Amino acid sequence: MTNTYTMLHGDCMSLMPTMPEASYDAVITDPPYASGGMVTSARQEDPRIKYQNAKTQAYYPSFENDNRDQRTHLMWSVRWMEQALRLTRPGGWLMVFSDWRQVPLTSDALQIAGWQWRGIAVWDKANFSRPVTGIFRPQAEYILYATRGKRDKSKQQKGCPAGVFYAPMKMSERYHMTGKPVPLMEHLMTILPSGSRILDPFAGSGTTLVAARNKGHTAVGIELSSDYHQIATDRLGLVLPS
Ligand SMILES: C[S@@+](CC[C@H](N)C(=O)[O-])C[C@H]1O[C@@H](n2cnc3c(N)ncnc32)[C@H](O)[C@@H]1O
Repeated sequence: MTNTYTMLHGDCMSLMPTMPEASYDAVITDPPYASGGMVTSARQEDPRIKYQNAKTQAYYPSFENDNRDQRTHLMWSVRWMEQALRLTRPGGWLMVFSDWRQVPLTSDALQIAGWQWRGIAVWDKANFSRPVTGIFRPQAEYILYATRGKRDKSKQQKGCPAGVFYAPMKMSERYHMTGKPVPLMEHLMTILPSGSRILDPFAGSGTTLVAARNKGHTAVGIELSSDYHQIATDRLGLVLPS
């Protein structure tokens, strides 16, 4: 299969149902967490206020779908995860990011959607987190991983990569308000067969596609925000159809 990278602009809820069944080896994605506060009113703040300190609020565009309450976030998550399952070949992977607060909802959602939950990997982001006096530093985010049915051991890689991965987020390499480091995304791809086809339905600034390209996989991203779609397209050097 040739290496290709495509960034689609639109709502993944509308675009995923138009894609053919079992056309991907893995869905690797970092959806809106709908988190960022202990109470509903705090969660319904703009992501720029929830996730950034005052010094960086001006740098990044905001984004949609991050202010649902828990019940609608669960239902919405199940809906896109069902589509992700349909689009993944039997034995293929889902890897989905979550913060600590949304781990229970995310593990419920993926299992309700029909995925076999396999475990959690940890992104250690070290000092790239706001310190909170009197509690442990909230320096981790989580990647829940699951398969469509049984694991396909005929396609598994040798070795057992680290389940806790340290990856600092350098500001100079951050293209999205909640962007992830490229080495982290590359690490997640170490368990995939070579030449995998990857879908990221919440692609943001295209970090998953950059990592896929670095690792020799092919990838399709979907992004709702025109600002972030443009950022990802520029970052990947893709030419937008006129
Ligand atoms: C947490 S960010 C992903 C950031 C990405 N990991 C990166 O490194 O740039 C989630 C993205 O999902 C997008 N999004 C939200 N709802 C969406 C939808 N229904 N369809 C497609 N994209 C959506 C948002 O605009 C946002 O850019």
